[in-house]
Amino acid sequence: MQFFSSNFKLGILGGGQLGKMLLYDCRRYDIFTKIMDPNKNAPCSKIADEFIVGDLTNYNDVINFCENVDVITVEIENVNVDALEFLENNGKKVFPSSNTLRTIQNKSKQKDFYKKNNLPTSAYKNYINLDAIINDFNAGKIQLPAVWKSAEFGYDGKGVKIINTLDDIKSLPNTHCLIEDKVEIKKEISVIVSRNENKEEACFPVVEMEFNPTSNLVEYIMCPADISSDLETQAYEIALKTAQCFNSIGLLAVELFITKNNEILINEVAPRPHNSGHHTIECCLTSQFDQHIRSVLNLSLGDTGMKIPGIMVNLVGENEIEGDVFYKNIETIFKIPGVSAHIYGKKKSRLNRKMGHITIVNKEIEKAIEIGKKIKELIKVTA
Ligand SMILES: Nc1ncnc2c1ncn2[C@@H]1O[C@H](COP(=O)(O)OP(=O)(O)OP(=O)(O)O)[C@@H](O)[C@H]1O
Ligand SMILES: [Mg+2]
Repeated sequence: MQFFSSNFKLGILGGGQLGKMLLYDCRRYDIFTKIMDPNKNAPCSKIADEFIVGDLTNYNDVINFCENVDVITVEIENVNVDALEFLENNGKKVFPSSNTLRTIQNKSKQKDFYKKNNLPTSAYKNYINLDAIINDFNAGKIQLPAVWKSAEFGYDGKGVKIINTLDDIKSLPNTHCLIEDKVEIKKEISVIVSRNENKEEACFPVVEMEFNPTSNLVEYIMCPADISSDLETQAYEIALKTAQCFNSIGLLAVELFITKNNEILINEVAPRPHNSGHHTIECCLTSQFDQHIRSVLNLSLGDTGMKIPGIMVNLVGENEIEGDVFYKNIETIFKIPGVSAHIYGKKKSRLNRKMGHITIVNKEIEKAIEIGKKIKELIKVTA
């Protein structure tokens, strides 16, 4: 099939910043794109060839959207999986598969998947309600501190709580969830794996993720990760095995913990471009977005080698009350060498909303990190 300057249509569910960055490469290749998002002003709204307002979780909206597209992909997991399954059964190409999405949408199913496939992850137990947790606690079956996770609809650290006391347990929402061991984390790292239908596979360099302790959001991504070559090899092995178990086509971002005992555990995965791969635009020979397109269209995968080390700094809203966004001091960074600003195009800023990111490259990662941390202090996203 000819994808370039042709009648071919790539359908993308979700029109946020991940979609927007995918679109840059679709434009470069002159691949026709059709995007659906519930927000008429979503970052992709002005850039997609065709932009449809619709509910990504609604069966009919997804079916109607996909009717005249050739390949379907996503930039968000929370989409109607029944519709995608129906489309697959009727011969449409859907990457990631409905099966993968169904497993990933539910954190309990996701953990069960790791267990079933002998993939390393922290010990856990699934619960159907709060009473069941309290009963287990009273029977001495839950050791605190532990980590509670809502089975469904968690994102950006929402739906995750550290529990230290019985009172913490009692204040949890009454919903399907899991409780897992609180891991003594030395470092959080991520490996983005790409695979295509021809069974080609490639991993992006292991990166280190630093989180904001209050918001639980990724604050910095550092490439390469400062880890031993032994741990690096293990991280690639685990990430590749995970992607193979899912029979993943497209990208699979594998978030991993390195424990205090130098053990590697899988935290969770995302079958799409990921925040831990934004720096690949500047740091790698092929960006994660280019690679995702190549993977889902079964083109040869690009070279994931690192061109230059770098750090990515997330720009998130700091204002409590939603309002028109203002990027304070953003002009000052333009005079610093190696700095690229990415502004997602969300008009309203609110607390912890991801609004943009900055990538800083430097031949010396330490120097990039130093500049990145200064920039984080300098720029304020407010209303
Ligand atoms: N078992 C655990 N032990 C210790 N810390 C944990 C554990 N699970 C999660 N965390 C911490 O909470 C963070 C968020 O957890 P997780 O990635 O599962 O949630 P999420 O809502 O999907 O977040 P995001 O969308 O930002 O990836 C992790 O990156 C880690 O810092
Ligand atoms: Mg996560």
